Amino acid sequence: MASTAFASTTRQQGEPKIITASKQMKDLFAYASRVAVSDAKVLITGESGVGKDIIARYIHAHSLRRTREYVAVNCAGVAESLLESELFGHVKGSFTGAHRDKLGKLQLANGGTLFLDELGEMSPRMQGVLLRFLENGEIHPVGSDMTSSNVNVRVIAATNRNLPEMVTAGQFREDLLYRVRVIHLHVPALRDRREDIKPLAIHFLNHSGKDIALTDEAWAVLERHRWPGNVRELQNVMEQISSVATDDVAVDVAQLPHILKSTGQAVLPARERRRQLADELFQAIVEGGYSFWEHLHPMFLDRDITRHDVREVVRRGLSVSRGNYRGLLDLFRIPANDYKRFMNFLATHDCRPDFREFRNPTTKMDRRPVVKFPGLRPTRPVEQPDTDVPEGESENAAL
Ligand SMILES: Nc1ncnc2c1ncn2[C@@H]1O[C@H](COP(=O)(O)OP(=O)(O)OP(=O)(O)O)[C@@H](O)[C@H]1O
Ligand SMILES: [Mg+2]
Repeated sequence: MASTAFASTTRQQGEPKIITASKQMKDLFAYASRVAVSDAKVLITGESGVGKDIIARYIHAHSLRRTREYVAVNCAGVAESLLESELFGHVKGSFTGAHRDKLGKLQLANGGTLFLDELGEMSPRMQGVLLRFLENGEIHPVGSDMTSSNVNVRVIAATNRNLPEMVTAGQFREDLLYRVRVIHLHVPALRDRREDIKPLAIHFLNHSGKDIALTDEAWAVLERHRWPGNVRELQNVMEQISSVATDDVAVDVAQLPHILKSTGQAVLPARERRRQLADELFQAIVEGGYSFWEHLHPMFLDRDITRHDVREVVRRGLSVSRGNYRGLLDLFRIPANDYKRFMNFLATHDCRPDFREFRNPTTKMDRRPVVKFPGLRPTRPVEQPDTDVPEGESENAAL
């Protein structure tokens, strides 16, 4: 890497442009290029948005397999049976809709690299299937009773979950963890490598095509922020800033998204502070590109916000969806197939207000919040909830 204040790697075909200024990230990339040349399996961990994907692609681009395929599979959000077919392929007629034989991603990645993203979301059965493949390299397409082939694939996996904790909780196979974690790269959160914030921000601003400057005070706010959504959040914020900035006037604190300025405010009474925090969090989700799992959830796990705050955000959401929990999915940017996980999370942490309170249209919170982020993306319309099925009740039954 170059020795300038921040270095970007030279881009080979398909290689992402990577900005590193902190010692942690320079060391991490130096280690990644050393291990890239071997065929050892790599596990990349770190919070959401820290750059796990980009590191996986970097490893492939620096490996001897770089001229072969790099194939990514996301283990979350795909039904178990589809994931198996996605990885191993299927034979014609093996399930409804299987009109012809189909190769799996493992076969497509033969000679190259398979990136298994969100490994921690894999179901126990699929963990067993994957382990069997890692042990013998054999491919069993779905619906076939024969082993079709052996493939030569380098596996890189990533997760933002704590796999050893999941092993202890009986949710992840210990033998699979050992198999995939031959090399372990942990990507630090952005708040733990603050030297990267400004170079990354400049990199994202440069994409706008405008000549944008920020005042020293605005930079100080960016560098102080906790960045729960890490580099992805920074990227969103810089896009928001560039959409409102003009070439000739430096962006000052006043033009920054409100969520960035909420730290270090004047001390308010506790109740008022809480109400304001819930309003800001809700607004950041609805207007600021935050999402429940990527932003609120890590803040909650890090104890930056309490269950009370989460409950209050949910209440604001329910007031918009008129008590329809399913209506929160779109609002909070939660994938539709994560509904059960979302409801379980709320139940486990006692963050599930009674939906009936919000079915009454005269409820006090029955309004969308006032938009405090000028110039951000317009609010997406929220689907009208079905009013005749008490959604919350059927949800209770499903748990
Ligand atoms: N060092 C970096 N230099 C340039 N861009 C980066 C860097 N790190 C992350 N990014 C960018 O930030 C965004 C998020 O990174 P990435 O998708 O790799 O995160 P992730 O850890 O895989 O997130 P998730 O856990 O949500 O899958 C991407 O657009 C990526 O290109
Ligand atoms: Mg990723």
